[in-house]
Amino acid sequence: MISLEQHPFWETLSALWSKGTSFLGCRYAILGGAMTWVSDHRLVASISSSGGFGVLAGGALFPEALDEEIRKTQELTLMPFGVNLIVFHHQIQDLVNVCIERKVGHVFLGGGFPSPNVIEALKAKNIRMIGFAPSVAVGKRLIKAGIDALVLEGSEAGGHVGPVSTYVLAQEILPALEVPLFVAGGIGSGRGMLSYLWMGASGCQLGTRFVCATESRAHPKFKEAFIKANARDATLSVQLDPRFPVIPVRALENRGKQNFLNMQREVLDAYNQGMLSQKEAQMKLELFWAGALRRAVLEGDIEEGSLMAGQSVGMVKSIEPCEVIIHGMIEEMLQGLEAQSQMGPKR
Ligand SMILES: Cc1cc2nc3c(=O)[nH]c(=O)nc-3n(C[C@H](O)[C@H](O)[C@H](O)COP(=O)(O)O)c2cc1C
Repeated sequence: MISLEQHPFWETLSALWSKGTSFLGCRYAILGGAMTWVSDHRLVASISSSGGFGVLAGGALFPEALDEEIRKTQELTLMPFGVNLIVFHHQIQDLVNVCIERKVGHVFLGGGFPSPNVIEALKAKNIRMIGFAPSVAVGKRLIKAGIDALVLEGSEAGGHVGPVSTYVLAQEILPALEVPLFVAGGIGSGRGMLSYLWMGASGCQLGTRFVCATESRAHPKFKEAFIKANARDATLSVQLDPRFPVIPVRALENRGKQNFLNMQREVLDAYNQGMLSQKEAQMKLELFWAGALRRAVLEGDIEEGSLMAGQSVGMVKSIEPCEVIIHGMIEEMLQGLEAQSQMGPKR
């Protein structure tokens, strides 16, 4: 078997995602998106060592734990990787300082608009910042504020999602903005990735496909649920009351999802009786997800926990090392390029 780099269409693929690979400093512009409780040092280092770009999930960590995760990742790989932070974390500035002290190259800022303090602190240390753009307008605002690159994540993705599909976001945003743009949500194959590269993406971010990597710490029952599931099983959570704009979460159907509805009802009752403020009510709902995801990922409670998964879950068929997942998708992309080159006008 020839190596990927010797394939006749390697140069074409390299050119297609060169903006992404040079921005990230990796061989392949395939990002392993941060997944809370799943994306730890082992998974992230494996993705990066395989030529992709792993992103540590820092959203649910406190500064000491994040510091430890970064240190362990750096011990396992010399290749670049990123850290995902949630901007409304109450210790966001300390988490940013940890990234600065550990000389992290790329920080992904999710959960809203980052404050000028956060942006200035990272910029001053030449740390590249990646934001999340649900529209052209927000993308432009983020770039103006100093963000260097964007992830466009569509509603097919696993976890907290926006209302617009990946394909629509890609058509609207890719031609409109100049910075490196990485497409995410519902991508499970090399062919899918290739189509977004052709549309102008600098690379693609995948989450669900890496949950069942051999190096992923997800509980065997969590992985088994993914392997059994079809695309249609990864559905959105339901919001009960417009006064609590709950960000929709895409996850596999189970009792945990029903519990979320019951929990929303209880929180609403407490709010209506004046026992909870709006902020407290909102916080309770958000904490519910973080706890439920932890129980499913780490303890294997796949009945009551949260099985966050993208629609690409239907393309997860087995447990494989990161290197096999990444190389398999690149082979598919190279085959796609080759097949396309053979399509000429019919004589
Ligand atoms: C279990 C799970 C947890 C996730 N947690 C986070 C997170 O903490 N922060 C974040 O920015 N995105 C999170 N995501 C989204 C991923 O980073 C990625 O963008 C998404 O999975 C891409 O879509 P896909 O699942 O169809 O591949 C999560 C996704 C999953 C499946």
